[in-house]
Amino acid sequence: MEHRDWVYDDLRQVGLDFEDEREVETYDARQGGSAVKDAALLERLGVGAGTAMADIGCGTGIMACQAAAMGARVQAVDVSAAMLRAVARRADHAGVALDRRHAGFLTFEATDLDLVTSKFALHHLPDFWKAAALVRIHDALKPGGRLYLEDVVFNCAPAAVAGTVEVWIGYMTAQTGYTREDVACHVRDEHSTFGWIMERLITEAGFTLLQASYEEPVYATYLAERPA
Ligand SMILES: C[S@@+](CC[C@H](N)C(=O)[O-])C[C@H]1O[C@@H](n2cnc3c(N)ncnc32)[C@H](O)[C@@H]1O
Repeated sequence: MEHRDWVYDDLRQVGLDFEDEREVETYDARQGGSAVKDAALLERLGVGAGTAMADIGCGTGIMACQAAAMGARVQAVDVSAAMLRAVARRADHAGVALDRRHAGFLTFEATDLDLVTSKFALHHLPDFWKAAALVRIHDALKPGGRLYLEDVVFNCAPAAVAGTVEVWIGYMTAQTGYTREDVACHVRDEHSTFGWIMERLITEAGFTLLQASYEEPVYATYLAERPA
């Protein structure tokens, strides 16, 4: 096969450096992830014994470990080896087994999945490569399998971006452990995009978009299905 030297290297860190152990150690406190909320979400998504799923950009593994505790067969996928070490610690502590994979959206390997989840990770790819990632996820799912995606997405007019970013900075610095510089780094160096682009990327990848919800100032969730 030809050497695809034009393919994006998704193992490199973009924006916040999640290979930095200090980022990983302080991550949960800043992000405010919750196993209880993830359990409710996974239940809504029908996760139970034997569900084959992957959580891509799994971070410290709250969602992946919760799914494993509910009986799912879970691949916890992340480009950060430091994050995957945190997943191992969490899984050991919880007494659950899962499969940790050092890979990204463009390099993970899976077939016949019932579900792919991904929270706050796809924005690490530029839009062109988000499209490629969504096609790979589509192909990794069984017909009828579902994608649950949550991310920072701009659901405003392009002309309103500056105001939206400032509202988001105000929210993040008041309500979370993130600093202005963290949020600025996200907007400047990572690749969060518009809701209308996300929706088109999802459907162009072959999915049926079942649900798209937006919450102010910049949060979006999508539920999509690979047609049966
Ligand atoms: C903001 S954290 C989100 C972690 C977790 N999903 C959560 O909701 O707390 C983003 C995660 O995506 C990972 N990541 C960055 N680029 C990625 C890529 N191309 N493929 C997969 N994961 C990636 C980072 O290493 C990091 O663990």
